[in-house]
Amino acid sequence: MEAAVKEEISVEDEAVDKNIFRDCNKIAFYRRQKQWLSKKSTYQALLDSVTTDEDSTRFQIINEASKVPLLAEIYGIEGNIFRLKINEETPLKPRFEVPDVLTSKPSTVRLISCSGDTGSLILADGKGDLKCHITANPFKVDLVSEEEVVISINSLGQLYFEHLQILHKQRAAKENEEETSVDTSQENQEDLGLWEEKFGKFVDIKANGPSSIGLDFSLHGFEHLYGIPQHAESHQLKNTGDGDAYRLYNLDVYGYQIYDKMGIYGSVPYLLAHKLGRTIGIFWLNASETLVEINTEPAVEYTLTQMGPVAAKQKVRSRTHVHWMSESGIIDVFLLTGPTPSDVFKQYSHLTGTQAMPPLFSLGYHQCRWNYEDEQDVKAVDAGFDEHDIPYDAMWLDIEHTEGKRYFTWDKNRFPKPKRMQELLRSKKRKLVVISDPHIKIDPDYSVYVKAKDQGFFVKNQEGEDFEGVCWPGLSSYLDFTNPKVREWYSSLFAFPVYQGSTDILFLWNDMNEPSVFRGPEQTMQKNAIHHGNWEHRELHNIYGFYHQMATAEGLIKRSKGKERPFVLTRSFFAGSQKYGAVWTGDNTAEWSNLKISIPMLLTLSITGICFCGGKMSPLRLETLISLCASFIQSGFIGNPETELLVRWYQAGAYQPFFRGHATMNTKRREPWLFGEEHTRLIREAIRERYGLLPYWYSLFYHAHVASQPVMRPLWVEFPDELKTFDMEDEYMLGSALLVHPVTEPKATTVDVFLPGSNEVWYDYKTFAHWEGGCTVKIPVALDTIPVFQRGGSVIPIKTTVGKSTGWMTESSYGLRVALSTKGSSVGELYLDDGHSFQYLHQKQFLHRKFSFCSSVLINSSADQRGRYPSKCVVEKILVLGFRKEPSSVTTHSSDGKDQPVAFTYCAKTSTLSLEKLSLNIATDWEVRII
Ligand code: GLC
Repeated sequence: MEAAVKEEISVEDEAVDKNIFRDCNKIAFYRRQKQWLSKKSTYQALLDSVTTDEDSTRFQIINEASKVPLLAEIYGIEGNIFRLKINEETPLKPRFEVPDVLTSKPSTVRLISCSGDTGSLILADGKGDLKCHITANPFKVDLVSEEEVVISINSLGQLYFEHLQILHKQRAAKENEEETSVDTSQENQEDLGLWEEKFGKFVDIKANGPSSIGLDFSLHGFEHLYGIPQHAESHQLKNTGDGDAYRLYNLDVYGYQIYDKMGIYGSVPYLLAHKLGRTIGIFWLNASETLVEINTEPAVEYTLTQMGPVAAKQKVRSRTHVHWMSESGIIDVFLLTGPTPSDVFKQYSHLTGTQAMPPLFSLGYHQCRWNYEDEQDVKAVDAGFDEHDIPYDAMWLDIEHTEGKRYFTWDKNRFPKPKRMQELLRSKKRKLVVISDPHIKIDPDYSVYVKAKDQGFFVKNQEGEDFEGVCWPGLSSYLDFTNPKVREWYSSLFAFPVYQGSTDILFLWNDMNEPSVFRGPEQTMQKNAIHHGNWEHRELHNIYGFYHQMATAEGLIKRSKGKERPFVLTRSFFAGSQKYGAVWTGDNTAEWSNLKISIPMLLTLSITGICFCGGKMSPLRLETLISLCASFIQSGFIGNPETELLVRWYQAGAYQPFFRGHATMNTKRREPWLFGEEHTRLIREAIRERYGLLPYWYSLFYHAHVASQPVMRPLWVEFPDELKTFDMEDEYMLGSALLVHPVTEPKATTVDVFLPGSNEVWYDYKTFAHWEGGCTVKIPVALDTIPVFQRGGSVIPIKTTVGKSTGWMTESSYGLRVALSTKGSSVGELYLDDGHSFQYLHQKQFLHRKFSFCSSVLINSSADQRGRYPSKCVVEKILVLGFRKEPSSVTTHSSDGKDQPVAFTYCAKTSTLSLEKLSLNIATDWEVRII
């Protein structure tokens, strides 16, 4: 078996072979929907069937051909959200409804029905500014806000619903022929994949037959759409052509192709649309394979004289049609009506939860490799960071740290004393992160396997036996995380006495959880594998990884008796995964284009709730490049393009939410100090910049956690009225104060940076040069340049000294970077707590400070009176950017009434005022007065 797995690994080392994966035309439910839609058979709402209760308004919908009644339910949900559910009224058996994603039962708002005419029904929320206008025949729903139709549902008549049929294949085929008028003649049946679908050597036998659903949405006036990760694609969604759609199907695609709509590791079936004056969202709650087609009709101007007598020009608004298709389940869709980007973020997190507050260490730099060989190796790498004065927070161990890929064990030869190793890391105030995949090696001597088997905790095959598939350990079974009992049991495996050799500085990495099944159809699990509750895998494929991370995070919380925040990185994810930790973008390749696309990929994750996301630095297949680098370095060619890429990747990573270096097996070592002194310096600088900014990062994460605002933001989110920003993806905002434009081109000597906002002023983070907003500037770049700009009007808290890890920086002083707006003012915040526990939540042990600068006075005051946290830290430095004239004096004024003069330096050339050697306690109120 070992040999077989090796073979898999070497197969994996090739670039992606797209033939392993299906495109739309190879997906039967896509072909069926297309065929049916060409027949233009319509649905009608039976408005005399309307019933209303506290929560919802219900009515029947009937298709003119099939006559099978569907039940539609419309809910108003607090915060300007509408929910539409469509299911069969009396399905043969229940259809899958995605559990555990919605944070709680969304609080509904009673909708009042206003009389429409006989052919329509109007539902209004209490305030009356949002209305749902239902047209009976053909069935259509218009969502109207302030008299403007924002979204129309089924206006293209793409509602599609395959009703469940009795199991008997022949009979069902016949019924299908009669009832849905889909051509199911014998030769066509295979093509339509009703009961059986072939893909290469794989045959998917469908016990429930066809059960696909679909619906269209027309977004009026919208041309800019975003979201539906995960694809290695541009941030703004593209129009899809024939046989082309964004696919949401979680797959292990090693070395994925970029600028491609194929599904990769995770799925969030949630899309945002933005236009001047309004942002909206559509959340399609379905965990089966899903396809999304997008088609924008641009605005057109035409002259009415062509159509009528009046000579007037009229503009027809642009609109975008979005067509969702899923393989099974029900239609359950949430319409988020904004109107601002910030409102949409809140609406979405009201449904699926906000980003978990990460432990502080996890915002530092992570050092990973497949694999660090043994304890000695870990020790040496750890020491290397200190030797080269590079901070880092967590050492990572990949699959080889275990006894033959048996998770929760340690290889006895390589890691004989895992606790000793962790104590070493602890003494350096660092952590360990280890991998735990969902496949469990079939081995009667492996206790995790035996216990799971005995309790029936594995996913089953069609015969009711444990599903078996090949992954890293060889033949394995897969834990059924959809079963709450399995999750509870899995969580218990992280308890310290159970997970031998683990300590409280050990955290987790969940990988291969799409789930990846080597040699399986599309490298994943057969769709007819069976889960808890007798559900087929097809119903819930996209949520498998979500549950894995959920169970792991809960395990880490439980082992600390509810006291400590977990850290779990996952590769696969679904809507709501933000509640459980971080996500990375999987196995990318070492090309400039991959570095470039990491930005839009992370922006897309960020706006769909998953704020804690990062790319992979030193990506896979860098080994060939690194060996080249090594020879260049030996022959004195420092700065060859490949090393340049590595440096640029570190620089970009330092400004992305999750920051980890990783390398695949059999590669040359690539710790940051292995590429010559100059490159070590550049990488050190990038990592140290990250550490300096940690107070700002941590405050942004708190903001994401409590107020749903993404940490990494596309420009359009911060500048929603600036058309030019709508398709920008080579630069982005970190919070609202920093604009980052990573260098992603080889041998770059300049980058063109667009600085938005005509009333804004922007300051170069390092040189303090400033520009007015609303223009593109050419910034000269050297290999040590990371183009970062601070927005005028912001105050950024930083640390003035950087330690060996975040743990060494708790006591170190703060600095404030005050960047003045055109009006000479600015505001900012700092959030601070113990960095690891839940005390901030339960005991309100936190500090939330607000800094505001106005009329030459900087004030530190409380932003949240509920919080208390004893911090002795002081603000030691204050830098004011954009201060026009040299002051005559500066004094500090503390809350006990004491005034003290402060020494300052002023640079007229850069208009910067610098105050040093201050000692102002961060936790108390004070003022700095500049005269
Ligand atoms: C997968 C992961 C990669 C990891 C490897 C071995 O390819 O994406 O990060 O190193 O498996 O566990």
